[in-house]
Amino acid sequence: MSDSLLDIRHLNKAFGGLKVTRDVSLKLSSGNRVGLIGPNGAGKTTLINLVTGALQPSSGEVWLLGENVTTVSAPRRVKRGLTRTFQITQLAPNLPIGRQVELAIHERDGSVNKLWRSVDSFQKVRDEAESILHTLRLGALIERSPIELAYGEQRLVEIALAMALRPRVLLLDEPMAGVPSGERQVVLDALETLPPELAILMIEHDMDLVFGFADRILVLAEGAVLAEGTPQEIRSHSAVRTAYLGGEA
Ligand SMILES: Nc1ncnc2c1ncn2[C@@H]1O[C@H](COP(=O)(O)OP(=O)(O)OP(=O)(O)O)[C@@H](O)[C@H]1O
Ligand SMILES: [Mg+2]
Repeated sequence: MSDSLLDIRHLNKAFGGLKVTRDVSLKLSSGNRVGLIGPNGAGKTTLINLVTGALQPSSGEVWLLGENVTTVSAPRRVKRGLTRTFQITQLAPNLPIGRQVELAIHERDGSVNKLWRSVDSFQKVRDEAESILHTLRLGALIERSPIELAYGEQRLVEIALAMALRPRVLLLDEPMAGVPSGERQVVLDALETLPPELAILMIEHDMDLVFGFADRILVLAEGAVLAEGTPQEIRSHSAVRTAYLGGEA
């Protein structure tokens, strides 16, 4: 047993003859901010899919809060504190974001089909949704639907939905993907508001963001761990610079 919230042990995954995850191990403790980087096709999203249970590994184990969850279903992993956001938006375009967060809270509480819920409990859910959106600086947009929002704001709604599930471990798959430069700061500021005790693994191609956000970085190349270290160590790692950062300073 360890005090890691998430403990990824020697994961391997092959699609037919194509090995896309090769002996990847990684630990996340409360408060960790880990960046997962690597070229397109390096296996970053696949690793997240293995961790969440969307994919089953060929070998290796995933431990969550001290329990082996390798064969536990994806929804049960969510219930145990593991939540992800997606590389590509999964929001309902025409439903007000406040409603979407409320639905996520009901989902978490298993109250979606409970018609005997009290008016009081509806109000509690509404208040919680408002508070989550407020923290992520989306409070003023609670009645708006994603279709009416800027793309950066939509990405934050996805994080709001993830937070509604009360994760202990949050996996962010390219939160900045598609966000225009003018909206970047809004996303950066919101990421800063996430609870400090949350363990976060973030995939991101935006190097300024990763190197600013993460206290540790894992570099994947062709499915395997090429390097792991502090942003400082990764920046000066020669194999990383050759394989990924293109040798730039
Ligand atoms: N379901 C699948 N079946 C077969 N091959 C797959 C499947 N999913 C992913 N792959 C392959 O696995 C490799 C890793 O893909 P993955 O999406 O994990 O990369 P990534 O690091 O997230 O890339 P990107 O930065 O482009 O998002 C790629 O070669 C991809 O084509
Ligand atoms: Mg990906």
